[in-house]
Amino acid sequence: MFSAPTYQGRRSRLATDLGNGLILLVGNIDASMNYRGNPYHFRQDSSFLYFGGPDVPGLAMTIDTATGRSILYGDELTIEDIVWVGPQPTLQEKARKAGFDEVRTMDRLVSDAQKAGDKVHYLPTYRGDNVLRIARWTGRKPEDIQTGFSEALIHSVVSQRSIKSDEEIAEMTWAVDLSGRMHVSVMREAEEGLKESDLASLVTGMCEAEEVTPAYGIILSVDGQTLHNHHHGNTLESGQLVLGDFGAESRMHYAGDITRTFPVDRHFTNKQREVYEVVLDAEILSIEACKPGVAYRDIHLHAARIIANGLKDIGLMKGDCHEAVAAGAHALFFPHGLGHMIGLDVHDMEDLGENLVGYDSDVKRSDQFGLAYLRLARKLQPGFVLTIEPGIYFIPELIDQWRSEKKHADFINYSALEKYRNFGGIRIEDNVLITEKGYQILGDPIPKTVAEVEALRYTV
Ligand code: GLY
Ligand code: MN
Repeated sequence: MFSAPTYQGRRSRLATDLGNGLILLVGNIDASMNYRGNPYHFRQDSSFLYFGGPDVPGLAMTIDTATGRSILYGDELTIEDIVWVGPQPTLQEKARKAGFDEVRTMDRLVSDAQKAGDKVHYLPTYRGDNVLRIARWTGRKPEDIQTGFSEALIHSVVSQRSIKSDEEIAEMTWAVDLSGRMHVSVMREAEEGLKESDLASLVTGMCEAEEVTPAYGIILSVDGQTLHNHHHGNTLESGQLVLGDFGAESRMHYAGDITRTFPVDRHFTNKQREVYEVVLDAEILSIEACKPGVAYRDIHLHAARIIANGLKDIGLMKGDCHEAVAAGAHALFFPHGLGHMIGLDVHDMEDLGENLVGYDSDVKRSDQFGLAYLRLARKLQPGFVLTIEPGIYFIPELIDQWRSEKKHADFINYSALEKYRNFGGIRIEDNVLITEKGYQILGDPIPKTVAEVEALRYTV
């Protein structure tokens, strides 16, 4: 944990920003997998953690905006709980470490929240059980909870959590460094005949050894053209590419989110290398374009033009690259956004609403295929941490659909694409801090040039 004054300062800023009412932040409870006593791995809510909530199930906190007093609600373990889960520090002890003014039992929250009437500010929730808990505490109908959240509270939380402090950067650097070591291990160990699951288990084992978990579902596949592919059942074959997109959480739950792509063989083929170099250029040049005041949407479009230009050199696109990107033709190959904020969540604060986190009154979300998936668009500020993750994918189903519709036929060389149907996908991703003057890539460098990646293949 950080020090008590850190959490007190964060809560007091919330109280000042809101100015009236009672702020209610809700911790998660255990989520059952197949029966109540067999829960999924517990993950605390990120905003609850950020404002000093202990990392255990079943808690909530309130902040009185008039007095600034913060109260932690929860129930101490009973002797029966201790028999099953062992002794734990008391809630009083946890509350003292995070600088709370008082601890109250959970049942007190009903009268405390209902005393505040309609002046209870809470965040949107992504768990059904929390809908019911908030409804019970506030005396509202469950169906009103998902629309009754406080937009003012979201804005205040987003403004604080978007700017990472030095101690948060240290946590994130730890997460990225472990993530980098996981990628290097996978690149060293992968060989023809192994299964994707052999490599995925290496990743989870390295997390386990550090007493942490992956920050999101591991993507590790020879079918890298499927963007969020969590299947690990394929066997690695000569001639294929492996796309690995995985990262660790730190012990305080800050995420690393790194992607590397490498050949199953010792070397990239010429065809693989050509496409890889385009993605690498887009990644490096996009990172170099990061600085305060630049809109992330413009960096995304910059990356898209680099990709369109590179694909034109390879013979897969044609025409004017600016026009192609404005029309959205590049999205056949690069259908996702360039990246997203990262912090306590891998897609930081996505539960609070992508448009309230990544967009503002200056930048509105596009509905064009590809650009519509861009999670972050607004101007960058010092202290933001974000991912840069361009990619080029050959998605046979999408190619077939676009070709049959002759979609963007002025910009896409469909006949040349036939030879790429089984190519897969390439993505390269790093985590980047925006500094006063520009940017800093978090963590120790993780091999990513063709020479660096090939040097890791079959070296042990
Ligand atoms: N790491 C997966 C993603 O950024 O969506
Ligand atoms: Mn990512």
